[in-house]
Amino acid sequence: MAMIDRRDPARVAQAAVRSAFPAGWRFSAGTPATFAEHAMVVSMSKYASEAGVEIMKAGGNAVDAAVATGFALAVTYPSAGNIGGGGFMTIRMADGRIATLDYREVAPLAATRNMYIGADGKLTNKSTVGYLASGVPGSVAGMAEALKKYGTMPLAIVMAPAIRLAEEGYVTDTGSGGRRGGQCSALIAQFEGKDLFCPGGQALKGGTRFVQSDLARTLKLIAAQGPKAFYEGAIADSLVADEQRGGGIITKEDLRRYVPVWRTPIQSTYRGYTLITMPPSSSGGITMSETLNILENFAPLPPAGSTEYAHLIAEALRRSFTDRNEKLGDPKFVKVPIDALTDKKYARSLAAQIDRGHASKTPAFNVGHEGDNTTHYSVVDASGNAVATTTTLNGGYGAGVWIRGGGFFMNNEMDDFAAQPGTPNMFGLVQGEANAVQPGKRMLSAMSPTIVLDLEGKLLLVTGAAGGPTIITTTMEIILNVIEQHMTLADAMRAPRLHHQALPDQLDYEPNGLTVAVQDSLKAMGHKLGTRGLATANSIMRVSGGLHGVGEPRSGGAAVGY
Ligand code: DON
Repeated sequence: MAMIDRRDPARVAQAAVRSAFPAGWRFSAGTPATFAEHAMVVSMSKYASEAGVEIMKAGGNAVDAAVATGFALAVTYPSAGNIGGGGFMTIRMADGRIATLDYREVAPLAATRNMYIGADGKLTNKSTVGYLASGVPGSVAGMAEALKKYGTMPLAIVMAPAIRLAEEGYVTDTGSGGRRGGQCSALIAQFEGKDLFCPGGQALKGGTRFVQSDLARTLKLIAAQGPKAFYEGAIADSLVADEQRGGGIITKEDLRRYVPVWRTPIQSTYRGYTLITMPPSSSGGITMSETLNILENFAPLPPAGSTEYAHLIAEALRRSFTDRNEKLGDPKFVKVPIDALTDKKYARSLAAQIDRGHASKTPAFNVGHEGDNTTHYSVVDASGNAVATTTTLNGGYGAGVWIRGGGFFMNNEMDDFAAQPGTPNMFGLVQGEANAVQPGKRMLSAMSPTIVLDLEGKLLLVTGAAGGPTIITTTMEIILNVIEQHMTLADAMRAPRLHHQALPDQLDYEPNGLTVAVQDSLKAMGHKLGTRGLATANSIMRVSGGLHGVGEPRSGGAAVGY
């Protein structure tokens, strides 16, 4: 077999070894990616990907397109796409400028450390359902800020596709549990969105034209007046009135004070490739970098799917997640040891603790599972500018609260705090004091929008995922699959995924994602195994003559390019 020239990503992709997936695995290797010569958007909604492409065809750059896609997702993927939530954006311009924007929600000023603990001392469900569950939304301010600094078009132009989709409606499909369009649920039915999303008490059928007039009006106000409409104007009025009716604590003052923050990107390397990724208030960049730094000490890594590979992944993640869960929080409130945790020497010391034949034990600090309702999208334009964005309401449809008159769902991001340090949150994560609730503080995230450069510093990969802490592992494994396992992007996205988050002390795999022989060997080494659905990603890779785009094959992501 010809040697793979690792300096040339296009040749790496083309020379990629056809991956061997375990028998019984749900996907076949060798499926083609979507190819585009110039530009590409990959998101969870075809309409939203098309919105971004429409903007690029009209002369917009990748940031213009990302903002168009983001607003469109709020209309066509309302379980996670949002204006009532928050997110993170990683940008690399073709001239080499890099930036990371944090538009995470913040705790309202009236939030208190014990606001989710009942009179009996037990955690209530108020951090997950209803008016008290929401942080102050950051999405509108964040998207407008990204556009102002790196975009080329006015808000009204990039929002036009979203406004059209809300006003004229779009045809729902039943993919992914009917999430693209109105899905009724017990959560939604408790609040104001029930008439629109549950007409006659039923979910909309696939194939229905779904019009959102209130949301169209809201989007038009933002397009005409800028983010002020949301944070100080008529939308703020509706939001605060609704909060007051429902017993929430978000005030006009909270909204007025909200600011997105440009952060210094985490830049780390793995075998000469560069990762540009998200610093706190996301844990994603640090945890991914720490894990990769540990894995770099094992050269080359064993083949994907082998016992040895799964063992090393688990042992590296056990160590990086232990640091994450204990030490990370909003840098405005806690001192985050970014340099120490992403230091190669520190990683070497952690790698030296790994026994190649036996599982180690995670020190006590219990951590559980997260759910699945965030959304990631990747954009590359014809000039090579790249944007990776992950945005969320946290749980599907967030707190369930739908702002009357505003036409949008509010997040339940407050649950990403350690609502009671030491007690699991809605997904089971148990975290420390660094992430306790404090007014004005950002809750720790796992979102990991990431851009990878090749050995010559050229754009290679734009990726990221949804799925709580499995975001970190999925994003990292896609990167490893491409640059270490030499898979095509399509195979890298389809390969079975693994996850370990320190505690529970368990290596998770997707059903049929490990052969029975490998499962037996891992158990014999002392690993406890579990199965779970892992994160959903949307990725773009530069290849010879253009771009490969791959939407999440597990739940129908949509790659659109030209
Ligand atoms: O920011 C975070 O890490 C979580 N709010 C993400 C939640 C999530 O990904 C849920 N599922 N897809």
